[in-house]
Amino acid sequence: MGVILSSLNRTLGAGLVLLFLIVVSFGGFEVSEPAWVAFAFRWLHVMAGVMWIGLLWYFNFVQIPSMPKIPDEHKPAISKVIAPAALFWFRYSALATVVTGLIVAWLNGYGHQALIFSDGFIGIGIGMWLAIIMAINVWFIIWPNQKRALGMVEADQSQKKKSAKNAMLTSRINTLLSIPMLYLMVAQQNYPLG
Ligand code: HEM
Repeated sequence: MGVILSSLNRTLGAGLVLLFLIVVSFGGFEVSEPAWVAFAFRWLHVMAGVMWIGLLWYFNFVQIPSMPKIPDEHKPAISKVIAPAALFWFRYSALATVVTGLIVAWLNGYGHQALIFSDGFIGIGIGMWLAIIMAINVWFIIWPNQKRALGMVEADQSQKKKSAKNAMLTSRINTLLSIPMLYLMVAQQNYPLG
């Protein structure tokens, strides 16, 4: 067991093997069925979304409030090591969530209708647009500001300070939007709007 758990890749592999064993033992695994393919993308979508929003909430619930309590000489552990790694997974899980989410909508046959808020798809349409705005925010506002704030690109002291504030506030906007966005995601199959 220690051999598996001491490596992240082997741990993830073991998770997949366990999933495979459960699904094969108890049925419901039909790779050739379009319904299964749509469901598999839904699963990938939720996995990517959990990683994205998990990291967003990590920044907002843990990292940002803890920074003022960390002595200056220890701050580089966060700004030079932890934050860049977290931001890498944050950006790419946001991208993966958008791509898998659009595929799910398309495989469900309502992608276009949802994006233009047709009847029956208004809730998921609003949820999708909120998440698309959040992903644009991640890639084109939060990330460039974080690069300056963390010293990954050239910036003077006042630019760094301003960028750190912008990154914090725009990340707060995403935290705010994540609440209705997630409601609308899970509502579509369970308690749709209207
Ligand atoms: C642009 C980004 C996104 C798009 C295009 C998108 C699209 C979709 C679509 C089409 C569905 C299926 C709705 C249905 O008919 O049941 C869905 C479900 C869902 N999405 Fe998203 N989504 C996005 C972002 C997110 C994010 C950031 C999360 C965060 C965790 C998320 C979590 C979920 C969950 C939990 C479900 C429900 C799965 C279920 O009930 O089986 N989505 N999404």
